[in-house]
Amino acid sequence: MNFPKRYTVTAALPYTNGPIHIGHLAGVYVPADIYVRYLRQLGKDVVFVCGSDEHGVPITIKAKKEGVTPQEVVDKYNRIIKKSFEDFGISFDNYSRTSAEIHHQTASEFFKKLYDSGKFTEEVTEQLYDEEAQQFLADRFVVGTCPKCGNEDSYGDQCEKCGTSHNATDLINPRSAITGNMPILKETKHWFLPLDQYEPWLKDWILNQHQKDWKANVYGQCKSWIDDGLRPRAVTRDLDWGIPVPVENAEGKVLYVWFDAPIGYISATKEWAEKTGKDWQLYWKDEETKLVHFIGKDNIVFHCIIFPAMLNAEGSYILPDNVPANEFLNLEGNKLSTSKNWAVWLHEYLEDFSGKEDVLRYVLTANAPETKDNDFTWKDFQQRNNSELVAIFGNFINRVVVLTNKYYDGKVPAMGALSDVDENTLFELRAYPNVIASSIEKYRFREAQGEMMNLARLGNKYLADEEPWKTIKTDEERTKTVMNVALQIAAALATVSEPFLPFTSRKLQKILNLDTIKSWDSVVTQKELIEAGHQIGQSELLFGKIEDEEINQQLEKLAATKKENMAEAKTVEPQKELIEFDDFTKLDIRTATIIEAEKMPKANKLLILKVDTGIDKRTIVSGIAEHFSPEEVVGKKVSVVVNLKPIKLRGTLSEGMVLMTQNKDGKLVFVNPDEKGVDNGTLIS
Ligand code: 2FM
Ligand code: ZN
Repeated sequence: MNFPKRYTVTAALPYTNGPIHIGHLAGVYVPADIYVRYLRQLGKDVVFVCGSDEHGVPITIKAKKEGVTPQEVVDKYNRIIKKSFEDFGISFDNYSRTSAEIHHQTASEFFKKLYDSGKFTEEVTEQLYDEEAQQFLADRFVVGTCPKCGNEDSYGDQCEKCGTSHNATDLINPRSAITGNMPILKETKHWFLPLDQYEPWLKDWILNQHQKDWKANVYGQCKSWIDDGLRPRAVTRDLDWGIPVPVENAEGKVLYVWFDAPIGYISATKEWAEKTGKDWQLYWKDEETKLVHFIGKDNIVFHCIIFPAMLNAEGSYILPDNVPANEFLNLEGNKLSTSKNWAVWLHEYLEDFSGKEDVLRYVLTANAPETKDNDFTWKDFQQRNNSELVAIFGNFINRVVVLTNKYYDGKVPAMGALSDVDENTLFELRAYPNVIASSIEKYRFREAQGEMMNLARLGNKYLADEEPWKTIKTDEERTKTVMNVALQIAAALATVSEPFLPFTSRKLQKILNLDTIKSWDSVVTQKELIEAGHQIGQSELLFGKIEDEEINQQLEKLAATKKENMAEAKTVEPQKELIEFDDFTKLDIRTATIIEAEKMPKANKLLILKVDTGIDKRTIVSGIAEHFSPEEVVGKKVSVVVNLKPIKLRGTLSEGMVLMTQNKDGKLVFVNPDEKGVDNGTLIS
């Protein structure tokens, strides 16, 4: 393989308006971390950066919703996100924030350089404006119908349904996300990056990248964007939350969040370089550096079209070598959603499954949405843990360590004469690092992890075929060789599992009593990864079984969320027109009791009720037969409008109306004057 001199690896800066969930992890952070850990094991010069994306409308909306300031929102979620990444073993070299001084400075300078060199166009255009909120409606402040797919809830900047990025003014029937009002158009000045001018260059560059090794889903999105025709893109916004536009006559304007956020990768590298005494420019400006952006599919156009165009316009930066974007992960068949709380939150997982970080990493990689959307289910999570991690990987290591302790007091026995099976097994073992590496280099992490597990399978099969527990009674020398070979596989696993299962790899290293894990290359070249005479430690279970009860708890949590969402989704009817007090007093509503009930012949929906209104006993025909049987309603206390003009329904005179409402589950219920001691005929007023 031809390696570049150094790597700059970035992972999408998460919006700081909510915690991290499994969709973010599977799409971006776990694959990025596998890639970087692998590179580090090869001894490569790599910087891995990320940070909180703290500007943009989603933050402001969240702040409004929670009645706090945007700063409080970003401080809260930055803390939660940063800690959960650390606890989950995502090994960023630097996790920064776009509110950091260094970022404000870097983004402002970047803008200024493009501005001064005439790369922007300045235009006064009509933008959507909410007269009641007295503000322009940028990005997520406006929702409406997507011009491409017809989704009625598309955001101003992007449609979550079809992934299209657009301008807010492209929306059909736009409405303000703040007041719900229909916006007006109002003139305002902004700076635009004339993407149309970059179209020929982008077309060539993207085609060239694709022919190298870009993923089909990434290229497909870029191509369709370019084929639609590129248009100038505003890089500033009329908002009060963000980085102020650093030029004169730009009061009240900030940089568009998608202008400043990717520059956050550069600021995070600068911050890291300052702390470590490195030269950040080598990681962003030297052609021998390979730049790789890990993102989810909703970020493709920003990383493959807009940011490259910005970097190209600036002129001194390298461009991404690859953008291995993933598709989406669903949860139990439904789209993950922060606002609907339909998610497995990382910080909650870490509490509920303490010590099982690698199980989630493993399952998310085994099921990674690399080429299509995939589904996470708790049953699959349990099954992969119990039948793969426990039964294959854990079982192999446990058997090797227990037997070595039992037969040799934990001292690695020497290898004797090798049989063909031993030779073949060792040959296969030495092939694994390259097989795994080749998949990682192609960003096929799921395939790579599968090969790592095949190495554990190789170990299990070897032990099952060679049966050292039998040969120990008949051939001590042979047993020593078999156990030595098995221990070589165990040591190799400690190395090649590290990118995928870093906690397990460290635990295994401790069990095998190795000072450091062997390098990737040494697994290929070194005759013995663990030498004869080396003392290993005691066995410790690498993975524990996950019981049904733990899974059921998670499923119950989701069921509760679903129920809450259904209740919330029920729309509250808008208030009716105002009426005069006199109109109200015209209504005569009384407490009453249903004393008899029968079905109206040949009518599915109607019950004929006899009601004691306190004034009299009268007949009321009520459309509740699909909800109640006659037996159920007899004896019920109800509220009745007694002065409604009588009306004949199917030949029966109905003299009033029984008031009904609906409960949370949509079931009809009586408006029931439940207070004790309220007699029939009492006025409700
Ligand atoms: O989609 C998101 O969560 C964005 N905050 C990603 C930004 S990536 C980058 F450009 F910073
Ligand atoms: Zn759409």
